[in-house]
Amino acid sequence: MDGEAQTTVHIPVLFDECLDALNLAPGKIIVDGTLGGGGHSIAIARRVAPNGLTISTDRDPAALDRVDRRVEALEDGATLPLKTYFANYCDFDAALERAGVDRVDGFLLDLGLSSDQLADRERGFSFDSDGDLDLRFDPTEGVPAFEMIARWSAEKIADVIYQYGEERQSRRIARAIFERRRTNPVRSARDLAEICRRCVPTPPPWAQKKTIDPATRTFQALRIAVNDELGSLERFLSKCVDYLNPGGRVAIISFHSLEDRIVKNAFRDLEGLTVLTKKPIVATDEEIERNPRSRSAKLRVAEKKTDDGDRNRG
Ligand SMILES: C[S@@+](CC[C@H](N)C(=O)[O-])C[C@H]1O[C@@H](n2cnc3c(N)ncnc32)[C@H](O)[C@@H]1O
Repeated sequence: MDGEAQTTVHIPVLFDECLDALNLAPGKIIVDGTLGGGGHSIAIARRVAPNGLTISTDRDPAALDRVDRRVEALEDGATLPLKTYFANYCDFDAALERAGVDRVDGFLLDLGLSSDQLADRERGFSFDSDGDLDLRFDPTEGVPAFEMIARWSAEKIADVIYQYGEERQSRRIARAIFERRRTNPVRSARDLAEICRRCVPTPPPWAQKKTIDPATRTFQALRIAVNDELGSLERFLSKCVDYLNPGGRVAIISFHSLEDRIVKNAFRDLEGLTVLTKKPIVATDEEIERNPRSRSAKLRVAEKKTDDGDRNRG
C-alpha cells in the first residue's frame, strides 16, 4: 500500500493505454499537464527513471498538495524523477524553463476534473453540496460561477449552457436562474442543481438506465466557461509541437465532444505531426464497469515527425 487511500480517490482512466501511447523508456522527459491525483504522473516517473524526468502541472493547489503527500508516502518517493508546478498546462513552457528543460519526449493531458475535486464539497463541483457554486480549478484566479451567473443576462447564460453543455433546455434553465435571481441569488451548487432538475424533463422509465443527472450538462458548461477550458486547450495545442523532440508523442484524453473535436482537428492540421489514432482509444467494458468516469473518455495520440527538424520553432 503506497498511501493512495489517504490522499486521492481519483482512479486514472485509460491508464495502460496512456503509458503505451507515450512510448516511455528510461531517460525520457515527459510533461503531464494535468497532474490531478498523480496516478499517471507517478507511473510515468517510474518508467522514465532513473535518468528521465516527469514535469507535471496543475491549476489546483489542492491537487499539488495531495500528490506531494502521496509521493512522500511512497517507498520510492524520494527517488522518483517528478517535478510538480502550480500552473495552467498551457503555460507549460514556463514550467520547462524552471525545470531547466528545452525539449521533451511527450505530453499528456487528461482533461476535466478529478474525483478529488468532485468529492470536495466546498468547491461546488458536486451537485448536492451546499458549498458555493465556485467551479474554478484555480481558486485564486478569475470569477466563481455564482458571480458569473449573477452578472450575465439570461441570454448569455442560455448561450453558455447550450454551447458548452449542449443542453436542450438551456433557455428554460437560464430563465429560471434569472427569475430566481430577482429575489434570491443562486449561490450554492444545490441551488443550481434544483433549478436544473425542475427544468429538464424526466425521461421515460425505459430510458432511465442510460440517463445522467439533469444538472450534469449545465454544471459542465459553466465549469468550461469559468475556467476557459477550451481556450487553454487551444493555446496548448498551438505550441506543444515546437517543444517536442522528433518522434515525441502528444496524448490527450478528453471527456467532451467539443474538446475532442478541437484535439482531432489540431492533430490533423498541425504541421509536423502524424496522427497515430485514426479513431480515438476508448475504455473497455471492464474499465467502464470498474470506473464509470471512463465511459466518455477518448484518447487521441499524435507523433512529431522525425524529418521535421526545427521547422516549427521560431
Ligand atoms: C482528470 S484530472 C487528472 C487526473 C490525473 N491524470 C491522475 O492520474 O490522477 C484533471 C486535472 O487537471 C487539472 N486541470 C484542468 N485544467 C487545467 C489546466 N488548464 N491547467 C492545469 N491543470 C488543469 C484539474 O485541476 C485536475 O486536477
